Amino acid sequence: MASTRSSALVALIAAATTLLLAYHASAGRVLLGDLCKNTDYPALCSSMVKSKVNAEKATQSAINYLIVQMRQAKVTASTAKADKSLLEVCTEMYDDALADLTTSLQNLKSGDKPSLQTNLSAVISNLETCKDTFIDASAKLPFEKLIEHLQQMTSNSLALANALH
Ligand SMILES: *[C@@H]1O[C@H](CO)[C@@H](O)[C@H](O)[C@H]1NC(C)=O
Repeated sequence: MASTRSSALVALIAAATTLLLAYHASAGRVLLGDLCKNTDYPALCSSMVKSKVNAEKATQSAINYLIVQMRQAKVTASTAKADKSLLEVCTEMYDDALADLTTSLQNLKSGDKPSLQTNLSAVISNLETCKDTFIDASAKLPFEKLIEHLQQMTSNSLALANALH
């Protein structure tokens, strides 16, 4: 009798635990889905915010991810085969973008949303300047896909920043 009761109790606890875990898992997914839902590149957004479920932490994670990719892109530009003076514009653009991203992290920390938005928007225009420089010179930009990828990541970061309160 006692053992029947205790095994019923164990089954009940197991069921409750399963429910609780399922609830937490789905709550996490829903929240993360919501954060990336209004970005233009949601799948890319998920890899940028990782498992962060808090909007501010997710934005911070996205900007840090972007900084790492931007540094790597700068290295790629330094070994690219193209006109040196055109490449120089892109290298300067990367430096400006990295400075703006560092400022963005400070803006995020201090809760200065308007500055955060302008600094992130400046990154998108910086990247555009690099592309335009090659277009205007009728030259082939060797890392165009990479620039577009960085623009997509910046767009996502801006969308996350726009959703902050
Ligand atoms: C970036 O943020 C700073 C404040 O930290 C602000 O003074 C500056 O104007 C912003 N930059 C741009 C390009 O808007």
